[in-house]
Amino acid sequence: MKENIIIAEAMSTAFNYLEDIRQRGYNPVILEAYIPEGYARKLMDEERRVKYRRIDYPITIIKENLNYEITLQEIKALNPRLILPGGEEGVIIGTRLADSLGLVGNPYSNIKAMTEKDEMQRCLKAAGLRYIRGKEVSSREDCISFIEETCVEDAVIKQVHGVASVGVHLVHGKDELIKAFDQESKAENMFGEAVNRLMIQERIFGDEYIVNTISRDGVPALTSIFRYFKKRTSAGAMIYQGYETINELGMKENELVDYAFKAVQAIGITDGPVHGEYMIDKDGPVLIEANCRVLGGSAPSDFLDKVFGYHETDIILDSMLNKEFHKEFRNRPYKPIRKGYSKDFSSETDQHISSSGIIPILMGMKSFHSGWVTNAGQTDTIHETVDLETETGCIYLVHDDDKVTKKDFEFLMHIEENYPKLMHSDEPLFVTPEDKSEITPEIEAIIHSDTETLINTLITYFKNGEKGKMPIPKKLIDNCPYNREIVSLIKRLCE
Ligand SMILES: Nc1ncnc2c1ncn2[C@@H]1O[C@H](COP(=O)(O)OP(=O)(O)O)[C@@H](O)[C@H]1O
Ligand SMILES: [Mg+2]
Repeated sequence: MKENIIIAEAMSTAFNYLEDIRQRGYNPVILEAYIPEGYARKLMDEERRVKYRRIDYPITIIKENLNYEITLQEIKALNPRLILPGGEEGVIIGTRLADSLGLVGNPYSNIKAMTEKDEMQRCLKAAGLRYIRGKEVSSREDCISFIEETCVEDAVIKQVHGVASVGVHLVHGKDELIKAFDQESKAENMFGEAVNRLMIQERIFGDEYIVNTISRDGVPALTSIFRYFKKRTSAGAMIYQGYETINELGMKENELVDYAFKAVQAIGITDGPVHGEYMIDKDGPVLIEANCRVLGGSAPSDFLDKVFGYHETDIILDSMLNKEFHKEFRNRPYKPIRKGYSKDFSSETDQHISSSGIIPILMGMKSFHSGWVTNAGQTDTIHETVDLETETGCIYLVHDDDKVTKKDFEFLMHIEENYPKLMHSDEPLFVTPEDKSEITPEIEAIIHSDTETLINTLITYFKNGEKGKMPIPKKLIDNCPYNREIVSLIKRLCE
């Protein structure tokens, strides 16, 4: 009989554990965390449905019972070799069960520091490390007194126990803070908790990084570093634009890793992974939050393998199964093989779409690996992006030539910012000539063509070395700088 390894909420990137467990000769078991009915549950049920469809072998799925003893007995009966938290929803129950059964993991007595953002910062302060000033708030008066006591003008309001940037507001001054507080105090907690506790932090202005680690016996090892690209929307939300891997550690990055190791130890992580989010400003690195589980974003394991030579869940599993492996891994130099990028897509507003040029653009990219984008083939509306749950796509890029990957990523950032109609649109791709006499039947046909088809045609033309007739009439391009730029962008994509 194969031994069981339990994954508490095998969602997002933690889904990859299942295959790794099988490859190591164990039997994966899924434990679904209890989430009360509501928004968070709806999202989770949908993700579970999609992910489970990919499992083509019999698998045991256990649902967390609200009565802890019942869940404990059910899990104990499986005599598991390991219990690992998978997605963020599995951190509390996974840590608790592993501790109750005396398995390798973090002490459950430490769960507040592992899940509550104010407690994490208190741990940093107690350890003499740089921390972010903050306070839990339950009234407008609490918000005002924080501003007055700290003289902080730029603040962040967020859920004490939150995920995916849901409910995060970056605000300036009292009025914006109160407005965000009023909005969030009515909002649902992302884990369906009865009380949605909120907190304020001073806002840090800096570059944002991810440092992923795996600890054994209180000693962390570095698995990966990424730099985030994020932007603040006009409404104050913080949304993801993407990330790139950091492949070489300079002075700044070494300082970050050093601080991250100390932060992981300060919040009491002894045995397990941390997906840590940090910022670096003029005073150096500081922890934004630690997520005591593998990284998220449903990163595909073959993408991570191409980039790092491993894909996190494998290293975590091997480290948790075998201390000696962890020791050996810890002593390996950090040396990713290729640059990897992830690009998140967002929408400024709710918009009607009838064509999605982003599909042929991605298909035409040399470094496109995999991912998803909401597109006109599936829906006629995309909604405003306010957090990770409402983004409109997430794709992965990797290529043998790192310069190609960088170019493709920058191209996507550029068109998203400046030429969003190339991605999704309800209007013609090209601007119609003002002088109506210039509109030939051919130009008329182009104006009425679908954006996705036009981009596809242009990509084929440029990729074939511009043989044959240029599919877009010269007249339409020459007299209009915007149209000229669209064509030259597509050409650049194909070089
Ligand atoms: N104190 C802060 N200063 C600056 N930016 C912050 C701060 N707190 C949060 N943010 C921004 O908001 C994002 C989401 O906040 P975070 O605490 O990570 O919540 P979540 O658990 O939803 O990921 C962060 O990744 C960061 O970009
Ligand atoms: Mg975060």
